Amino acid sequence: MDSATFDKFRSLVYEKSGIAIKPDKIALVTARVGKRMRALAIDDFKLYLDRVLNDPTGGELVMLLDSISTNVTDFFRENHHFTFLAEKVREWTDSGTGRFRFWSAASSTGEEPYSIAMTVLSALGNVPSDVKILATDISTRVLGVCSKGVYSARQIEPVPPEYRQRFFIKTGTGEAAHYEAGSALKRITQFARLNLSEVPFPMKGPFDVVFCRNVMIYFDTIVRKKLLEECYRLCRKGGYLFVGHAETLTGILSAFKPVAPSIYVKD
Ligand SMILES: C[S@@+](CC[C@H](N)C(=O)[O-])C[C@H]1O[C@@H](n2cnc3c(N)ncnc32)[C@H](O)[C@@H]1O
Repeated sequence: MDSATFDKFRSLVYEKSGIAIKPDKIALVTARVGKRMRALAIDDFKLYLDRVLNDPTGGELVMLLDSISTNVTDFFRENHHFTFLAEKVREWTDSGTGRFRFWSAASSTGEEPYSIAMTVLSALGNVPSDVKILATDISTRVLGVCSKGVYSARQIEPVPPEYRQRFFIKTGTGEAAHYEAGSALKRITQFARLNLSEVPFPMKGPFDVVFCRNVMIYFDTIVRKKLLEECYRLCRKGGYLFVGHAETLTGILSAFKPVAPSIYVKD
């Protein structure tokens, strides 16, 4: 890829998603975009850029963003967040709360919102409650995986066996086994496309906990700051924000107060 074409890709990606590609990432972008181009049998970067720009469905833009950012995720990733979440849900239930709202702001393929769902349902025990989890992402491709909720034997590994049994429907055996999220999880989880770089967001909130994890790393300070302001607006007083462990808010002006590593409160 020549540097003029690289600059066009960088500007397009920033304009459409807020993802800030550093100027020294030409080799990385060439490799990642090149992979997508091979799948389409296109061998010229300018032709591929035209394809993205002229796709009226926006589907190729999603594929481009997918190839630039990573959708890597895992069930119960950064497990201390789920331990903290379970404690809070028990505390809130003990004090009489029966309505809970959670937001997984860059949900990727669903492991994060379903981990929230399993944690909350388990913490609630038999207490009847009104629980909803909103899962959003910019990529319609990953949201499709989310709503199907089907995971391989390898993907399901971090899910404790008792949760697998209680919350998933297993088909097949051994390495070929698949696990589909059951109705208890799907009933309380909603999916929507949302671009975190386009503020203000249409939701009203308020959310008890916002999971905004491993996505701010892609943004520059301007986009991060606006995103955090929206997270703050949508979080209820006494509610929490969880970020990825590599995404400290230090240095970004935010009204959230730190309470534990990568956990913030709106007090
Ligand atoms: C590394 S995954 C993080 C998944 C999950 N939150 C976790 O921590 O495991 C990053 C996700 O951010 C999404 N993403 C990137 N830019 C975005 C944007 N501008 N708006 C919304 N989602 C975005 C990607 O599509 C991807 O699914």
